[in-house]
Amino acid sequence: MSLRVLTGITTTGTPHLGNYAGAIRPAIAASRQSGTESFLFLADYHALIKCDDPARILRSRLEIAATWLAVGLDTSRVTFYRQSDIPEIPELNWLLTCVTSKGLMNRAHAYKAATDANEAASEETDAGVTMGLYCYPVLMAADILMFKAHKVPVGRDQIQHIEMARDIAQRFNNLFGNGRDLFVLPEAAIEESVATLPGLDGRKMSKSYDNTIPLFEGGAKALKAAVARIVTDSRLPGEPKDPDNSHLVTLFDAFAQPAEREAFRADLRAGLAWGEAKQRFFDVLERDIAPMREKYNDLMSKPEAIEEILQEGARKARATAAPLLAELRESVGLRQFNALPVAPVAVKKENAAPQLPVFKQYREADGRFYFKLSAADGRLLLQSQGFEQGREAGQWVGRLKTEGGAALGEVPASLGEGVEADEVAAALALFAQA
Ligand code: TYM
Repeated sequence: MSLRVLTGITTTGTPHLGNYAGAIRPAIAASRQSGTESFLFLADYHALIKCDDPARILRSRLEIAATWLAVGLDTSRVTFYRQSDIPEIPELNWLLTCVTSKGLMNRAHAYKAATDANEAASEETDAGVTMGLYCYPVLMAADILMFKAHKVPVGRDQIQHIEMARDIAQRFNNLFGNGRDLFVLPEAAIEESVATLPGLDGRKMSKSYDNTIPLFEGGAKALKAAVARIVTDSRLPGEPKDPDNSHLVTLFDAFAQPAEREAFRADLRAGLAWGEAKQRFFDVLERDIAPMREKYNDLMSKPEAIEEILQEGARKARATAAPLLAELRESVGLRQFNALPVAPVAVKKENAAPQLPVFKQYREADGRFYFKLSAADGRLLLQSQGFEQGREAGQWVGRLKTEGGAALGEVPASLGEGVEADEVAAALALFAQA
């Protein structure tokens, strides 16, 4: 199989220089290399997580589609599509959701940022957190794994999501692959120098910080106005500037040739005025962007042509996605009955690991919380007393699983009828082995 490259942009706003330098430009460059198959798309299901304004979503989808096409995406080489045109993706999302631990999602940066902000504001931890936000990394894993992508060109903020996609893929392969790799384990492709392009105020350029420089929207005038708003220090014209402490220089570097970077630094050290430095940055940007902007404006006036391109892209994408999804359905057991040769017979595996006993926690009509331990054949091994709090029952279950028989002397519980403590200890030891 050739090297598969895949990346997407969330359709919640207008593309900015950070999206361009961090993801779009490297993805287009990769798509031109021989031996590469590219999947580039509009992440419009993701947009619904962050935005409940249909008009904005609609506009952003068009702008991002026109952007991909204007920057040189060759539809004869690349599969270019909208996420929401591929029904296999939400179906895969569900298959992956079922093997993804909640703990993994608890660690996702976007979710943690939301809960940290809530806690700092003395709000309830999960206030305003939707299941969409919480499970966002699973949908992103589905985007990537659906097309068996090897490389995912992204900015630094997406690295964790790609690592999670690897974890989820690995788990799915282990559970259902039967020795085969159903999914490829993807890797982030990061260009260090532009992995976190700064915005106007020096923080990461981001729609959420409102510090972006738009790539095309508003034309040269808006671009120039945004460049003029880049924050610099207050050194006057003629005063030496420190190029290593200026995000204007980082931005300049992302678009300039090596010789231009050297000259820019030397001139700043020699006292180049910030106003002139910004003009130079604008000129460098315009050199790249002006020709693409013309195409962009032309495309924006032809939404029906873009629609046609995307419909064709969806057909191509589905031709790849559908066979894999069929294989996945098969591997998890969602098979058609007429494909079964005979009624399935449960086969007892030789040397199979002994079956684990089962803990159950529950609440009785007395309002108290209980747990019980039953052997794999259903016999009652241990019955707890009632607890005021469900947490207490959970803590005892945790201790019995980790400490085994050693915790039996302390646990407020009685043995099942005719059951010896040794048998319970042996049953508990199975948890440690598992
Ligand atoms: P999104 O839409 O926030 O950003 C799109 C891409 O732009 C990169 N980026 C940046 N790179 C460098 N400097 C910056 N300041 C900067 N700001 C944004 C992002 O890292 C990203 O690569 N979840 C994704 C979209 C997505 C996706 C996927 C990406 C959905 N499914 C599958 C790759 C593969 C997102 O919200 O990106």
